[in-house]
Amino acid sequence: MGAEPVGTDAVAVRAAVAAAYGKRVSSQRGCCGGGRQKNVSEIAPQVLGYTDEDVQAVPAGAEAPTFGCGNPLAFGEVRAGETVVDLGSGAGFDLLIAAERVGPSGRVIGVDMTDEMIERARANIAAAGHANVEVRKGLIEDLPVESGTVDWVISNCVINLSPEKPRVFAEMARVLKPGGRMLVADIVADDLPAGVRHSLAAYSACVGGALSEEQYVAGLTEAGLADVEIRRRTTYTCAELAEFAEASGLVSAADDQADSEVVRRLAAELGGKVASIAVFARKPELPG
Ligand SMILES: C[S@@+](CC[C@H](N)C(=O)[O-])C[C@H]1O[C@@H](n2cnc3c(N)ncnc32)[C@H](O)[C@@H]1O
Repeated sequence: MGAEPVGTDAVAVRAAVAAAYGKRVSSQRGCCGGGRQKNVSEIAPQVLGYTDEDVQAVPAGAEAPTFGCGNPLAFGEVRAGETVVDLGSGAGFDLLIAAERVGPSGRVIGVDMTDEMIERARANIAAAGHANVEVRKGLIEDLPVESGTVDWVISNCVINLSPEKPRVFAEMARVLKPGGRMLVADIVADDLPAGVRHSLAAYSACVGGALSEEQYVAGLTEAGLADVEIRRRTTYTCAELAEFAEASGLVSAADDQADSEVVRRLAAELGGKVASIAVFARKPELPG
């Protein structure tokens, strides 16, 4: 698919990404759109497209920072009683919002590989008192979810982090019911310099592994999904990228100077080449 990191060692990439997000949830830093997440109710509506009502899904006192780059649920019609699966559910912000939409007769399942994130999400679900929301530890490339059981797959700023994106797209198609739909907020990028593509810090910053929009649409289509549609596109300026890199701690907390330098360059050079998108697609109904 053309946007995988050097070596394409999937195990090593996932280990680096899990380590980065394990640290980030402890330090409350965002990634590709949210910046420093001290007060989600203050920044989320403006930056990511959440409404005040969405933010109220997070119980008072709970720490449910969003590490996302959009609000995938803003573009869908998730209804009471439906089943939603969130790929890379992080600290659970979108799980809590989805829970409000599906109500007690519905079901929400988060999947994440990072223990610190899972622990935080489970604490938030317990604080909100939802009996029908759970987080399963697993990979988005091998979803611990039964085939054909899901009405909506959602995901927020995660698929760019996968070193095996065709597997993720295939898994989304597998778990959806015929006619089921997906809504994904993610980062796309064009013409990334090799130095950025080959940096694990840039990969963990949601940029190094980003597909182009065309590759994204082609990947979903190849997985058998239909009606693929870009419902929102926000292209980042140099200044915004610099702010995100700084605010997310990627510049100051990069593991070594070389990585830190790559992230700085990324912010300075990539204005206009990196965007967040919201993508919709549908699994076709069974014929006849
Ligand atoms: C940028 S954060 C987004 C979290 C959440 N969706 C949000 O909007 O706040 C990425 C999340 O995806 C998880 N993740 C990344 N790659 C994954 C993979 N291959 N399998 C499972 N989880 C993954 C990370 O552990 C992390 O929690």
